[in-house]
Amino acid sequence: MLEASLKELEASARARIVSASSAQELEAVRVEVLGRKGVIAGISKQMAGLPAEERSAVGRHLNAVKRALEAEFAARQAEFAEARLAARLDTEWVDLTLPAPGPRPGRMHPITRLQCEIEDLFLSMGFAVLDGPETETEYNNFDALNIPRDHPARDAQDTFWLKGETLLRTHTSPVQIRGLAKLKPPLRMIAPGRVFRNESVDASHEHTFYQVEGMMVDREVSIAHLIYYMKAMLTGLFHREVTVRLRPGYFPFVEPGFELDIHCLICDGAGCPVCKQSGWVEQMGCGLVHPNVLRMSGLDPDVWNGWAFGLGLTRLAMMRYGIDDIRLLQSGDLRFLYQF
Ligand code: DAH
Repeated sequence: MLEASLKELEASARARIVSASSAQELEAVRVEVLGRKGVIAGISKQMAGLPAEERSAVGRHLNAVKRALEAEFAARQAEFAEARLAARLDTEWVDLTLPAPGPRPGRMHPITRLQCEIEDLFLSMGFAVLDGPETETEYNNFDALNIPRDHPARDAQDTFWLKGETLLRTHTSPVQIRGLAKLKPPLRMIAPGRVFRNESVDASHEHTFYQVEGMMVDREVSIAHLIYYMKAMLTGLFHREVTVRLRPGYFPFVEPGFELDIHCLICDGAGCPVCKQSGWVEQMGCGLVHPNVLRMSGLDPDVWNGWAFGLGLTRLAMMRYGIDDIRLLQSGDLRFLYQF
């Protein structure tokens, strides 16, 4: 009786193994047949009631069926595993013949680039390139530049004050004072660097930006020298002849002081949105060094005089590269930086 049901069991189990449509379904069948509480385990238990000689014959048959079914399951499981792998290979693959993407070396920041170009231009004209600290004394940043005690620029609104009489420099002009202390006139120097103002940030205002300061002190320096050097710098930077004009401008450390404009490079002076239809773009402040500044640095203004300028490097970079949001420059965003 048991023999007959063993044969039947084997046949029906094989049929279910073959027809299983998924690994999960196959596993369910395996548990039902070969599991600890499965059909074969059940038959094993029933064998206990058989007479001894019948028991060993049934036992052998049962073992044979069990091994045969186990082999069958293993083979079918392997089929499913292979099909899974084949499906993965269909969707996940690499083309080994594609060229490698190559290294992505760093780029020079647009402001650094412009700074280097300006340094090269002035070095070629015999200027020294000076560096000053970003934390300055109140004396160098204001007093020695003839900026009065009650000047609004000293207000907490514009200046980041530090402990004691120090601050984050609000312009590169204090390097003029350091230059006068360090170099003997006649002297020519520029000083590029980072400056800070307590501004609320938007697309055209930053609390941190870059300037270049320039100064020349000699015996008979005039506005003609100033214009000459400014034109030389701008022509070198823009790789073409630029037309400049001076308007009166007030800066306590120069007298007379000017705002220097250039003919708009976009429209050549005809009027466009960049120059707000005026044909001119404001470029920098400049002038002849104020006698008080020379005097405070120990130079006799009857013997020495000079010119100076302060150029907004950040603004220039934005104009040159068509950057319309100042915040991008300090964002550290590689998508922005890789365009240069
Ligand atoms: N320091 C001025 C500023 O930050 C710019 C400036 C104007 C610098 C005139 C100069 C100068 O050397 O002569 O707005």
